[in-house]
Amino acid sequence: MPSDSTGKTIGVALLVTIVSSILVSMAVVILRPMQEKNIELDKKRNVLLAIGKDVETKNIESEFSKITAVVVDLTKGTPSDYIAPEKYNLKNILKSPETSIVLSKEDDIAGIHVIPRYQLAYLVFKEGKLENIIIPVYGKGLWSTIYGFLALENDFNTVKGLTFYEHGETPGLGGEIENPQWKAIWPGKKIYGDENEIKIEVIKGSVDSRTVDREYKVDGISGATLTSRGVSQLIRFWASDNGFGKYFKNLKGESLSRAK
Ligand SMILES: Cc1cc2nc3c(=O)[nH]c(=O)nc-3n(C[C@H](O)[C@H](O)[C@H](O)COP(=O)(O)O)c2cc1C
Repeated sequence: MPSDSTGKTIGVALLVTIVSSILVSMAVVILRPMQEKNIELDKKRNVLLAIGKDVETKNIESEFSKITAVVVDLTKGTPSDYIAPEKYNLKNILKSPETSIVLSKEDDIAGIHVIPRYQLAYLVFKEGKLENIIIPVYGKGLWSTIYGFLALENDFNTVKGLTFYEHGETPGLGGEIENPQWKAIWPGKKIYGDENEIKIEVIKGSVDSRTVDREYKVDGISGATLTSRGVSQLIRFWASDNGFGKYFKNLKGESLSRAK
């Protein structure tokens, strides 16, 4: 068969295709554990960022190990030993009807349909005293589900910080939720009003000195009203009694009785 025959050309093309597919598949399998480790590391980095700690990659694990992870039963607002924090896997928890809760349309203000009954929270202690709590938050933006962490002071009301580590919003528009300047607006804002009602809200436009209740209001991102609204709703959802609201109330009760 001549070396430029159709059969030979197809044969070589097939061989190249098969070898390339094998190489790509092998690379996917080999690199997957490394990717998963990096995703976990990035989450830990964001937990730390939520409390204002921007640490070098090599120091993430050691800084993170100073934080106490706890699994919370959201229905009761209490810590749970259903699963150890280091074994926690949100996807698995959401798969089982026993460990997940389907939200009614009315309750589903963050557009997520199903939530875990058990969720991780992170506690930061200083000299034995609880200083901050960090909770995972997520909900629908315009194009995607936005995942992040919200850190509160030990009054369980004042925002310490907010980070987002995964979303598919448009860079330059909704993607500005990652902009450090926008995130810097959050620290000091309050979540709950005097009657424990949720008051925090991302507004359309800017908060200024004349804005009523400005400690509860955050500037919306211009050109990204829908993503801004998504962030507003996801924070409100996870602060509600369907999210971590009951846990915060219990922790507040505990710290008040300790102070007596
Ligand atoms: C290609 C494209 C991408 C967009 N991406 C976003 C986005 O990520 N988040 C968002 O809220 N709005 C996005 N918008 C704009 C929305 O459609 C909508 O106009 C905007 O949220 C309204 O915000 P404004 O009232 O501040 O202008 C996008 C629009 C276009 C054309």
